[in-house]
Amino acid sequence: MSTINRTNEGRRRLHHEAEVVIVGAGILGCAIAVALGNQGRSVILLEKSLKEPDRIVGELLQPGGVQALEKLGLRDCLEEIDAIKVYGYDIIYHGEELRIPYPANAREDGGELVEKPHTDEMRGMKRKRPEGRSFHHGRFIGQLRRKAMQHENVTVVEASATELVRSGFTDHILGVQASVKGELDSFFGDLTIIADGYASKFRKEFRTDLPVAKSKFWGLELVDAKLPMPNHGHVVLGDGAPVLFYQIGTHETRALVDIPNDLPSAAASAGGVKGHLRNVVMPTLPESLKPSFLAALDQDRLRSMPNSWLPPTTNKAPGLIMLGDAMNMRHPLTGGGMTVAFNDAVLLSELLSPETVPMLDDTTLVLKQMKTFHWRRKGLTSVINILAQALYSLFAADDAQLKALQMGCFGYFKLGGNCVDGPVGLLGGIIRRPFVLFYHFFAVALYAIWIYITSASLLKMPLRAIESVGVFWKACVVIFPLVFSELQS
Ligand SMILES: Cc1cc2nc3c(=O)[nH]c(=O)nc-3n(C[C@H](O)[C@H](O)[C@H](O)COP(=O)(O)OP(=O)(O)OC[C@H]3O[C@@H](n4cnc5c(N)ncnc54)[C@H](O)[C@@H]3O)c2cc1C
Ligand SMILES: *[C@@H]1O[C@H](CO)[C@@H](O)[C@H](O)[C@H]1NC(C)=O
Repeated sequence: MSTINRTNEGRRRLHHEAEVVIVGAGILGCAIAVALGNQGRSVILLEKSLKEPDRIVGELLQPGGVQALEKLGLRDCLEEIDAIKVYGYDIIYHGEELRIPYPANAREDGGELVEKPHTDEMRGMKRKRPEGRSFHHGRFIGQLRRKAMQHENVTVVEASATELVRSGFTDHILGVQASVKGELDSFFGDLTIIADGYASKFRKEFRTDLPVAKSKFWGLELVDAKLPMPNHGHVVLGDGAPVLFYQIGTHETRALVDIPNDLPSAAASAGGVKGHLRNVVMPTLPESLKPSFLAALDQDRLRSMPNSWLPPTTNKAPGLIMLGDAMNMRHPLTGGGMTVAFNDAVLLSELLSPETVPMLDDTTLVLKQMKTFHWRRKGLTSVINILAQALYSLFAADDAQLKALQMGCFGYFKLGGNCVDGPVGLLGGIIRRPFVLFYHFFAVALYAIWIYITSASLLKMPLRAIESVGVFWKACVVIFPLVFSELQS
């Protein structure tokens, strides 16, 4: 018998057997493959196409994602891809510009760091401002996949998973069937991880609810765009839905334009999406961006992606774990998806470490850990999920009450100090306490009401005061369903 037969690699290559079979070498799949491989687990990673992807998703990684990448030992995947440093956001509200940098001294619980040099808390703590990164998605994926391929405990196979393999007696998942170069083959693992992304083929077998997408992002790639504030994500807010800009390479800038479903100005009869971009969106952009936006509109092909909402659920199927966009999605407005994925990879690998779970076929123990995972990930993920949806509601305001909240939100940011550090710390994946989000959301609502009442003439003030009940009610209608969705098991 050759040595390859006796090693784990042999078992993976020849017999298609491993401790873990992962479907999808995207953001989550690569990260968890390396994390588990580092723990000595034997991993098979299946990916339907190993070609460098060319997509308009996953291009801005928040500081909280960079930190998680570092914990996974994958930080150098951000090198040599012409990535751009991101220091915060530039919000342009009806032409008025406001810089909101990532906070320097934020703690995970949202408090301020105070100088306490002798406490444990401070040891090893870097006082640098947190940084995000933006890049070409395909180049970053290329780096992640390379890490997985180079790992001695991970075998990457180009294969498209078609079906789950179930035990005939129990409902246990034993692995997947996949098409490899046109031929059907099976891969077996003590644990099967499904990370096949937003259009997951396997999701519907485990849950009945579907992702909800009320809008799409349409992407353009601008060449040598003059951004008002380099090294910042840009959010342009006006009468319509939000528009994002961020540099993804030395010469390239991504524009993402949110277009709600059935928007009249984007209907075919009104000139379609191109017409909408040219006639409605273009005039609202900063002057410096117009030439490159127009050029991209003439040259680049238009591409779109649905902006989905899918609340998380606990994994309850023995032998299977759903992760990434297959399990949980939020509006990409705040660029949170990859930060969620990398932090999930960190948390899951901790919970399934060989010290805690020696054998991954111990399904009772694995399912118990999955319950812990569901609740423990919320510190970060419920913040990112709720914030993305709530901000989108405000930023795409289509009625008077939401517009009042939108104005209040921008006014709140203008107050500076903790009114900026808190929200952007939450958005950046740095502050991980849902209560901090709750606090700022209602502070915005109350501030919005204050502005709404006091900006009216004296005569109108009493009416506005009465109407402000509606504004407060609207704030509740926005936030509470999101909070409840996070309280589901
Ligand atoms: C318009 C838009 C913009 C976004 N921008 C950002 C952003 O700036 N920052 C951010 O953090 N997040 C962003 N996101 C979200 C982010 O892209 C996702 O959260 C992230 O990519 C999810 O990772 P994943 O591993 O679950 O899925 P993916 O990264 O999509 O990976 C899934 C992988 O599975 C493979 N696969 C699929 N089916 C099979 C099969 N049957 N067999 C084998 N392989 C299969 C696919 O080829 C793919 O490689 C954006 C999303 C959208 C829609
Ligand atoms: C691979 O797994 C083995 C145990 O099977 C472990 O000793 C080794 O450290 C792992 N390799 C890496 C690079 O983590």
